[in-house]
Amino acid sequence: AKPYVFITMQIPNEIVSLLEKVAHVGMWEADIPCPRDKLLEEAAKADALFTMVVDRIDEEVLRTGQNLKLVANMAVGYDNIDLKTAKQLGIMVTNTPDVLSEATADLTFALLMATARRLVEASLALYEGKWTSWSPMYMAGQDVYGKTLGIVGMGRIGEAVARRAKGFDMEILYHNRHRKPDAEEKLGATYCSFEQLLQQADFVVSLAPLTPETRHLFGRREFELMKKTAIFINASRGPVVDEDALYHALKEKQIWAAGLDVFQQEPVPIDHPLLTLPNLVPLPHIGSASIPARMAMARLAAENIMLGLSGQKPKTLIDEAMWTSHRSR
Ligand code: GLV
Ligand code: GLV
Repeated sequence: AKPYVFITMQIPNEIVSLLEKVAHVGMWEADIPCPRDKLLEEAAKADALFTMVVDRIDEEVLRTGQNLKLVANMAVGYDNIDLKTAKQLGIMVTNTPDVLSEATADLTFALLMATARRLVEASLALYEGKWTSWSPMYMAGQDVYGKTLGIVGMGRIGEAVARRAKGFDMEILYHNRHRKPDAEEKLGATYCSFEQLLQQADFVVSLAPLTPETRHLFGRREFELMKKTAIFINASRGPVVDEDALYHALKEKQIWAAGLDVFQQEPVPIDHPLLTLPNLVPLPHIGSASIPARMAMARLAAENIMLGLSGQKPKTLIDEAMWTSHRSR
């Protein structure tokens, strides 16, 4: 019998067709998350799950999946998946690295520039009829060219952001769990301690994945260490930031502005205190949302499923050890 694949959100038809060549395919045909009871019901039948960052693939889902061989997350991040349980059960987990790095770096840099030059605030003022005249300091912001960029989390996306920053003649600092001699050589990035980065950077950019160690990495103390003119950008995961601390830092002008593509709770509640601040540029988690990047992510997730279901090693396993533990289960 053909294996069964469940896709938790509507994806483009051409990707569904690819999967239909090798499997029966079910799909939650909506642009809102698949309800929990439906997800559990489908997981119980599925050989593979094609999942999104909004799906919580926890122990209950994984244990329900008696036939489950593989979870293919259409994202580079995988904090939504209980890896420990997946490993125990010999279920493979894949993500979609590389294919989204440039698109995400483009968005990160766009958000940095939009925040520095107050693009959203200025455009809204125009729409609201508040553009009364050119004037010397009207909507004046911060410079980007030649300033110091501090990247926290120097993975592939961080390196792609650094390449853009080179064109803006920026000094590039980074902090990461491991030093990246390659990035230091190719990009002229300078490794420094977290504290030094916070104190010296004009732009502090978070690209750190969400792990127990990075939860609330940016809190009251961290914002206090930053320059008064600093701009904080978060393009990784909401919970790396203590949002109360950020609210106070922005409200009390401890830092100058922030740009957030991600939030503790998504969608961010429209009455969230952060959204009352003029010096915040919020975006609805669109880091990788270019058409080519999203198509490439969907295709890669599908390829991982097709390989896994035919007994071959998927292209982008989160952890190579998953291959051996899957084969020996
Ligand atoms: C999106 O946030 C991703 O991890 O790809
Ligand atoms: C992690 O994979 C990153 O690209 O930053």
